[in-house]
Amino acid sequence: MLESRGYCCTTISNGRDAQEFIRKQAPDLILLDLILPEIDGIQLLDWLRGYNPEIPVIMVTTIHDISTALQAIRRGAYDYILKPFEKDELFHAVGRAWQHRQLVTENKNYQINLQQEVERKTAELTNALDLLTQSYDDTLEALGSALDLQDMETFGHSQRVTAYTISIAKSVPVPLSYLTVLARGAFLHDIGKMAIPGQILRKPGPLDDPEKQIIRTHCEIGYNMLTRIPFLRDAADIVLAHHEFFDGTGYPRGLCGEQIPLGARIISVANALDAMLSDSPYRKALPMSHAREEIRRGAGTQFDPKIVEVFLSIPENHWIVMRENLGSPFRLTHLKNMGLVPH
Ligand SMILES: [Fe+2]
Ligand SMILES: [Fe+2]
Repeated sequence: MLESRGYCCTTISNGRDAQEFIRKQAPDLILLDLILPEIDGIQLLDWLRGYNPEIPVIMVTTIHDISTALQAIRRGAYDYILKPFEKDELFHAVGRAWQHRQLVTENKNYQINLQQEVERKTAELTNALDLLTQSYDDTLEALGSALDLQDMETFGHSQRVTAYTISIAKSVPVPLSYLTVLARGAFLHDIGKMAIPGQILRKPGPLDDPEKQIIRTHCEIGYNMLTRIPFLRDAADIVLAHHEFFDGTGYPRGLCGEQIPLGARIISVANALDAMLSDSPYRKALPMSHAREEIRRGAGTQFDPKIVEVFLSIPENHWIVMRENLGSPFRLTHLKNMGLVPH
């Protein structure tokens, strides 16, 4: 009867052979007699629910076995039909079970596709975020290079301060997520100097008071430039505070101790180190031992004593080697290669 309707059917006469067949062929639908040799219908049904619960099972039963058939439905059979078959009843039951099976399959495919779609979208998003982070860093590099053009005397200062800052920060240590903020803050700490007239920046001698006042505005100018950019907000706070002194005598706000963001306290030491190790318009670079001594003397006044302690615990040679390796052209990715900032 079913074949006349286009169904492809296989008849199996005992439970064990049926198990074998199901393992090999995975049929779309099973009509299962309650009474079978070797393994009966209920046992086979229980096995099948564990083996592949998606295959609908229609129990085939006589009028005397109705209660057993109902029990089978409670155990997961989809429906039952009575023997001998009523043609319409058979087609109806098989048709419904078949439709049910289609729905289950479609639903399953939908779930799989959905999962794949979610995975694909997540990969796309991660990729986009990576690109975005890369373009952030490219933007920072462009800004940093623009500053170098303005202030050729201190060429590479931002990059070296970044490397020193990260080096100290890793020994403090600071959380990994803060290192990125810190690297950006260090890289841009003097960005406000872009707005300072070149003749003041490059003046070949000590600055007078009005000139000092002008140069000091680079902290606020830098802060105002960066604070409007969401991914540089935290870095902006560090930039604003990088000339504060631990004892409260720095600028622009006269903050003291832990009021000064940790990042700024670290950059303060790195900045002083690079300034002393570099030629300035009016004095030659100092030797490393001298620079270390100056920083030691500034502990508690200019610098956070804890940061100075960390700085002094790092061997002199570390800074010398690092300075030599930071040749230009320098890229933020160089820091990554040196393992100084998280990838
Ligand atoms: Fe500065
Ligand atoms: Fe600086």
